[in-house]
Amino acid sequence: MRVLGIYGSPREGGNSDLLLDAALEAAQAEGAEVERLYVRELGDLQGCTECGACDDTGECIIEDDMVEVYPRLERAEAIVLATPIFFYSLPAQAKALVDRAQALWNRRRLSKPRERWRDYDSGRGYLIAVGATRGKSLFVGLEFTAKYFFDALDMSYQGGLRVREVEAKGAVRGRPELLEEARALGRAVAQGRGFSREY
Ligand SMILES: Cc1cc2nc3c(=O)[nH]c(=O)nc-3n(C[C@H](O)[C@H](O)[C@H](O)COP(=O)(O)O)c2cc1C
Repeated sequence: MRVLGIYGSPREGGNSDLLLDAALEAAQAEGAEVERLYVRELGDLQGCTECGACDDTGECIIEDDMVEVYPRLERAEAIVLATPIFFYSLPAQAKALVDRAQALWNRRRLSKPRERWRDYDSGRGYLIAVGATRGKSLFVGLEFTAKYFFDALDMSYQGGLRVREVEAKGAVRGRPELLEEARALGRAVAQGRGFSREY
């Protein structure tokens, strides 16, 4: 199982980083082949310009760091997207990557008949999300975004780990139960199972 972990936070060593590290280490221990993609290290990542070029081709024409990212998204058999909540959504840098998946959505639309759009042939997607507050609806918007990001990649959304009330950098270190849940998520990813826990 080739697993790609996408680190969506601009904060190195922050909460979503630590949870994704724990999940990927556990996935690797289960025999998964693990790759890591740090969105904050992509120096040249533009947002989608809605130019429409990919509508007919499924190919994005913007020449920036996404050129290297697309094949990594396509090679993965499972993806774990880890991100903090920023204004009930993703940080802008990670959202740019998500929006650029529009080219892959078009590729899927062009290559797969409409009656098969509910079938996912490229693997499974998972979400790790952390936020500082404790509202009931904290993850609602982000979960839709993640589900349809994975849909564009022809991957089925399999849930994940959603954590409220962590704010300071590295706060999850003081919550060993969360790191244990992240390891459980990593094992589920490696075994191709769904997973859903919310704190
Ligand atoms: C720009 C910005 C916006 C944020 N918006 C929210 C928010 O809407 N809801 C929330 O609960 N926390 C919000 N937070 C808090 C972060 O989600 C929280 O600190 C999280 O633990 C950061 O994760 P990280 O260490 O992986 O970056 C925001 C933080 C920043 C810097």
